[in-house]
Amino acid sequence: MDIASNAAHPEAAPAITAPPVIHREDYRPPEWLVPQIALDFRLGIDATHVTAKLSVTRNPAGEGGSTLRLNGDQIAPLAVRVDGEAVNDWRLDGSDLLVALSGEAHEVEVETAMNPAGNSQLMGLYASNGMLCTQCEAEGFRRITFFPDRPDVLSTYSVRMAGDKAQFPILLSNGNCTATGENADGTHWAQWHDPWPKPSYLFALVAGDLVANHAQFITQSGRKVDLNIWVRAGDEQRTQHAMDSLIASMKWDEQAFGREYDLDLFNVVAVSDFNMGAMENKGLNVFNTRYVLAEPETATDADYDGIESVIGHEYFHNWSGNRVTCRDWFQLSLKEGFTVLRDQLFSADMGSEPVKRIEDVRTLRGGQFPEDSGPLAHPIRPDSYQEISNFYTATVYNKGAEVIRMMRTMAGTERFRQGTDLYFDRHDGEAATCEDFVKAIEQGTGLDLTQFRLWYSQAGTPQVSVSLTHEGDVATLTLAQTVPATPDQADKQPMPIPLRIALYDRDTGCHAGERLIVLDKAKESFAFGGFARLPVLSINRGFSAPVAIEFERDAEDLVFLAARDDDPFARYEAMQSLVVQHLVAAVGGGLADAERAAGRAAIGKAFAAIIADEALDDLMRGELMMLPTVAYLAEQVLVADPYAIHEEREALKHWLGGELASELTALHDRVSAVPYGRDAAARGARKAKAQALILIASGDAAEGAARAIAQYRAADNMTDRQSALTVLCNLEGPERDEALADFHQRYQGNALVIDKWFQLQASCFHPQVLNHVKALAGHPDFTLSNPNRVRALFMSLALNPKGFHDVSGEGYRLIGDLIRRLDPLNPQTTARFVPHLGRWRRIEPVRAAMMRAELEAIMAQGELSRDVREQVGKSLG
Ligand code: PHE
Ligand code: ZN
Repeated sequence: MDIASNAAHPEAAPAITAPPVIHREDYRPPEWLVPQIALDFRLGIDATHVTAKLSVTRNPAGEGGSTLRLNGDQIAPLAVRVDGEAVNDWRLDGSDLLVALSGEAHEVEVETAMNPAGNSQLMGLYASNGMLCTQCEAEGFRRITFFPDRPDVLSTYSVRMAGDKAQFPILLSNGNCTATGENADGTHWAQWHDPWPKPSYLFALVAGDLVANHAQFITQSGRKVDLNIWVRAGDEQRTQHAMDSLIASMKWDEQAFGREYDLDLFNVVAVSDFNMGAMENKGLNVFNTRYVLAEPETATDADYDGIESVIGHEYFHNWSGNRVTCRDWFQLSLKEGFTVLRDQLFSADMGSEPVKRIEDVRTLRGGQFPEDSGPLAHPIRPDSYQEISNFYTATVYNKGAEVIRMMRTMAGTERFRQGTDLYFDRHDGEAATCEDFVKAIEQGTGLDLTQFRLWYSQAGTPQVSVSLTHEGDVATLTLAQTVPATPDQADKQPMPIPLRIALYDRDTGCHAGERLIVLDKAKESFAFGGFARLPVLSINRGFSAPVAIEFERDAEDLVFLAARDDDPFARYEAMQSLVVQHLVAAVGGGLADAERAAGRAAIGKAFAAIIADEALDDLMRGELMMLPTVAYLAEQVLVADPYAIHEEREALKHWLGGELASELTALHDRVSAVPYGRDAAARGARKAKAQALILIASGDAAEGAARAIAQYRAADNMTDRQSALTVLCNLEGPERDEALADFHQRYQGNALVIDKWFQLQASCFHPQVLNHVKALAGHPDFTLSNPNRVRALFMSLALNPKGFHDVSGEGYRLIGDLIRRLDPLNPQTTARFVPHLGRWRRIEPVRAAMMRAELEAIMAQGELSRDVREQVGKSLG
């Protein structure tokens, strides 16, 4: 330690060399623990001063160094005191603060200052719409004060904050408010105490001019909990659905998992500038406004569902994440995979279980399968990272949920509950690992999960090839699995794959009961007696395993299952397979006219049956009418021409719209007569209405435009208005202009609805979509500083097969430009665009070369964030 280094410049120089790689295997327990921390904030929008008092003790399990390492990021120590005395025994190592300590326990005090208004990364303490808020996961706390910013250091937090009373009438932090007061100079203060020890990533502070929707919840043991949803004045009438969802979540977690809330207060704050969906800070959840605010006039049914699931998700983290937290960030799926499963089960219980399952599988296939087959593939428990923000992925979240769901499927609901009870009991108050979770499930359920642990370590979506033969009265099912090679993982071992199956008798149309088989070898056969003819196989029912099934079969069998499978997911899957098989074969002129006609006829027959089936509810009908996405279709082939797939898919829609015109218009008329309501029947009507309108417009643009503009004008809710506008956006003509102008004018000033206005135009298939996107980027309502707005325009483009993959390469350039311009402002949000260009190896060569060139142009730009550098480097690598 030398004194001279105290003069070190506050801002660490940006890393010029490649950032270091952090390895899971290198985990070491912390040298020092921080049982308590007291934080004192003097708040200001562009200057906030922080004094942090850490009581530190040497960790007996540590390796015994005498230096305390406190992480920092873009902050400078204004003063350092040890046991109350200013000291010189400290220095900076990069952005970390190192303090030499002689004893076993000390009080270390550090002062820092920051400019929240200048914080465009939205990590640490930042300003949004005149209020102050924090985001600390994963490594944002170090932008507020120096601290061992790792999830296995748990502390009890006491927070005091003072600020201008007019500007910040509401002052919030974790736990309970213990004292408040006013000063003569127009400032006021509040003191908060959180009795539950927590890692720094769960710290939060909010200060601003907010109003609350207030309610109370009484827990199963009789604890009265005050609930507040804080928003800006004027928004409070849009918070009731969030409040209802919160109360439902609290009740559900008591019943489904035996988990009760553990404080007297639960605050939720809605913030308009937020990188992610929401954050589970202890007792003070911070939410992106889009997951809080809803009323029928401004929010679609999908928005309502999103609110219910994210409110649930963050609430459920109170146990799966907060009471039991993660030892290190490689264990992220411990809290995220499990919490996603919990929110999925919650939403399924609140609404339609089969429809929820289909939606979750669509999300997985649309977002996670492409990740698993690309350059950024990683196991749900990664082995290394450069920037942890890049690992908040569909793999860690959604595949992580599927992996835990498989354990539940194999154990059964009740035994699984014994496993989770044991896990919560055993690890309450601890920072745990995925291995701890698996052990608890193993012991609680009695399953042997030795081989199953491969799901945590192997990346890639297993491919299961299926054949079914028949001899005598025995049907033999032969299954073979391969797990594809992924970056850094060439050779894979077979994994246990639980498959729910049923065998249908062709004559009776029935099956003799569902069974669960577990494929745990590379290849295995299963024999089933009692079949006079070859049965029809229904496999991976309920999507019991997150695998790709390869099973070439007759359209006739798929039509059979699409019409009658008693597992709703399998029925949906049969419909999807029918379309996938046809489109994959048809792309690029791969089918003779007669074959194409036969393929279409089979699909038309299945569609007609779905439209006509009176036993189906409209929600499920709408679901079954959705064609597989271009992204999912592109996944089926090694090298895809997404544009050609898009064209072929549109051609099929055109044919279906013409072939089934009368059925579709009758359906559209019927469901249009159902009045608005939040009940399942009315929601189903709106879903079927949207799907019918899409196909009608594909078949006959004039009829589609007439119906869409009528639906738009008559709409008394956002679901109908948006589904009409979606269709109009694809069409050319006066109706489009009328509706877009009306929409913008009608919802001016409502940021979340204006986001939709951008999103609808950027995701449509209009011939001029790229020019529209360019013009919209210059629109006065567009800004790079709001992540929701950036995603509304540019993520919509990146996901639009027609715009993004335009053969001019202009779509790639627009995303490349965005990455270059946004990275200096907000690396975390920027890095999420890279994987779209990163898929070049799976795209036909002409486009692949342009995508790759765009990545190289990004890499050539000197100062990239760690976030973007890691993603681009791996995508080119
Ligand atoms: N932990 C949050 C969630 O899943 C996500 C999040 C990560 C939010 C990082 C902000 C920053 O609920
Ligand atoms: Zn989460």
